[in-house]
Amino acid sequence: MKRKGLIRSMLVSLIVLMQLLFVAPVFAKEDTSLQDIKDKGTLIIGTSADYPPYEFHTIIDGKDTIVGMDVKIAEQIAKDLGVKLEFRDMDFDGLLAALETGKVDIIMAGMNPTPERQNSVDFSDIYYTGGQFLLVRKEDEGKYQNLDDLAGRKIGVQKSTMQEAAAKEQIKEPNIQGLAKVTDLVLALTTKKVDAVVLEEPSALEYAKSNSDVLAVDPGFQLDVAQQGSAIAVKKGSPSLIAAINDTLATIKAENKIADYLSEVDQYTETPAADGEKQAATPLINYWQYYLTGTGNTVLIAGVSVIFGSILGFFLALMRLSPRKLIRIPASAYVEFVRGTPMMIQVMFIYFGLGYIVNIPAMIAGIIAVSLNSGAYVCEIVRSGINAVEQGQVEAARSLGMTQKTAMRYIIFPQALKNIWPALGNEFISVIKESSVVSIIGVSDLIFQTSVVRGITYQAIAPIAVTMVIYFILTFSLTKLLNFYERKLNHA
Ligand code: ARG
Repeated sequence: MKRKGLIRSMLVSLIVLMQLLFVAPVFAKEDTSLQDIKDKGTLIIGTSADYPPYEFHTIIDGKDTIVGMDVKIAEQIAKDLGVKLEFRDMDFDGLLAALETGKVDIIMAGMNPTPERQNSVDFSDIYYTGGQFLLVRKEDEGKYQNLDDLAGRKIGVQKSTMQEAAAKEQIKEPNIQGLAKVTDLVLALTTKKVDAVVLEEPSALEYAKSNSDVLAVDPGFQLDVAQQGSAIAVKKGSPSLIAAINDTLATIKAENKIADYLSEVDQYTETPAADGEKQAATPLINYWQYYLTGTGNTVLIAGVSVIFGSILGFFLALMRLSPRKLIRIPASAYVEFVRGTPMMIQVMFIYFGLGYIVNIPAMIAGIIAVSLNSGAYVCEIVRSGINAVEQGQVEAARSLGMTQKTAMRYIIFPQALKNIWPALGNEFISVIKESSVVSIIGVSDLIFQTSVVRGITYQAIAPIAVTMVIYFILTFSLTKLLNFYERKLNHA
């Protein structure tokens, strides 16, 4: 009992301390939100494009494009502001953080202005209202008519959405499965990992329309109407931006344009060929470009990170081998800390944390994080490689009159390299695989692209299999290449 109290107070002090250290500094400053966007010339919109008809991916003229009702509205807002438009597609649960840390200017993602969200961001007027529906398997038709039928069932919800909250509150003994992407939820449903998915009515209807294996039903959620609408989120303290957005929304509403937008985007959602007939799977080959971009980015991130990581690791290793404590300790501390924390957290910390000071693109943040991480591992590889060279070698070199530096350079290091090389190769291979965590901050690496393809095609397994083979080809050819150089090194 006593120990529990201790753990609790330690945890509480840790949280308080970190909050003090990393709380976003809020200065009561002038509202320049609108002017800033006009000066910048672009409006950056954070979204989670897995939510037809609000926002979703489609291919137009062979190019991946985000379309939807929100996109149409966004285009109008950008036009009224006289700026260009840019979308950042990410997981829904990362949107608020992206807005608060200035990664995006506004959020348009069919987001409801709930009181909790209003604590951290401000909202525009509501532009559309949809209720909450369920998506179920067609074979379960009639099985889930009301909330009671859902008791104890596996319910899929998108993480951090109001559907998650509603399901927890209104379903008895719910077995909630939260996933980041709605597209993955639909796959979880068709592959029987969950029995029902809670979605906004329009989205449930769209998914049911384009996927003949699922049905939309209304189980009668008890809804607080005021919280049902979708609104645009902006950073706190941006009245000028909100006013401008509300102006556009008012015009859109007055001219009844939302209905037009909806019917316009309708053409992009696929309809199954014929009723009752099994939909032919879209050939994956149509999506080769997604894989190409993803592979290119993965190779880029891994390649650049390995170079920077090796340079960093080499210096860290020299520091760790120094006889001077003052040099040794910071390097060891760095290595221990990096190895002791998950790369996923490091990536997020760099992206959001460093991003608070300088606004770096996700790609750069990813490369920095992976390099910093790899540096720690390379340090240990280099250090043990050097340590593995017999001590007698140094002594012999020194007794021949070489300085420590010369001995290191001509005697120790060439021998150490033979030990280091294979391990460094392994590190490169790990970096290729592990760098995939950058997909959580929205970098379009191979993993990110895979989930986009899964989302568009509604195919659960084939897109992953393709990715697996691509990763294998990458790492296997690298292994072969490294072996070749290793043999050369051994002959030298
Ligand atoms: N309306 C719900 C909410 O605000 C879910 C929105 C999900 N949006 C999306 N683009 N996936 O919590």
